[in-house]
Amino acid sequence: MKIAIIVAMDANRGIGKDNGLLWHLPEDMKFFKNTTLDNIVVMGRKNYESIPEKYRPLPHRENVILTHNKDFKAEGCKVFHSFDDLLNFYTDEDERTLFIIGGGEIYKQALEKDLVDEMYITKVNKTYDADTFFPEINLRDWRRSKIKTFTEDKDHEAEFDIWKYEILSGEN
Ligand SMILES: NC(=O)c1ccc[n+]([C@@H]2O[C@H](COP(=O)([O-])OP(=O)(O)OC[C@H]3O[C@@H](n4cnc5c(N)ncnc54)[C@H](OP(=O)(O)O)[C@@H]3O)[C@@H](O)[C@H]2O)c1
Repeated sequence: MKIAIIVAMDANRGIGKDNGLLWHLPEDMKFFKNTTLDNIVVMGRKNYESIPEKYRPLPHRENVILTHNKDFKAEGCKVFHSFDDLLNFYTDEDERTLFIIGGGEIYKQALEKDLVDEMYITKVNKTYDADTFFPEINLRDWRRSKIKTFTEDKDHEAEFDIWKYEILSGEN
């Protein structure tokens, strides 16, 4: 089973505010969609609720929500109450990637538990007023390569780079 993180953060690692996103960057949304299509997307209950109703569940992906609330239900989504339950369920999954799509609490736990094989990180070259952040990572643990730089234009309020990080476990 391969586990990946996909996230977009600002220059201070900010990822959200008031349970919403900080920017509108259509090319980054397109990258998110194309990268996660046909795979499994794992999200915290707050992230799920932040997605406008008309866009959820995210189409052509298996949507998985983590919540401690045993009564929580969401149409078209699988619900788990711990990372252990989630990992047990997908233990034999060898075709699709499990994309951890946030938010902050879910990213933090996935990294602390050393679950993550690779990360797709969009770095937005601007600072926003955020209340939710992506954790600090130790760059020495990861091999980093740039996928693409996008410049500011009429549809994109900021320049941003998309990076791929691959875990170096066992190699150093
Ligand atoms: N920029 C980006 O790439 C990006 C991506 C995603 C989200 N975001 C932003 O991130 C913010 C939301 O992040 P957040 O940190 O506030 O919340 P979150 O991580 O989306 O969700 C937290 C919730 O997940 C559940 N949960 C957490 N750990 C769990 C566990 N181990 N087992 C079962 N359930 C667990 C709990 O739900 P219950 O309270 O129901 O128990 C908890 O309240 C929003 O602003 C959103 O827009 C940004």
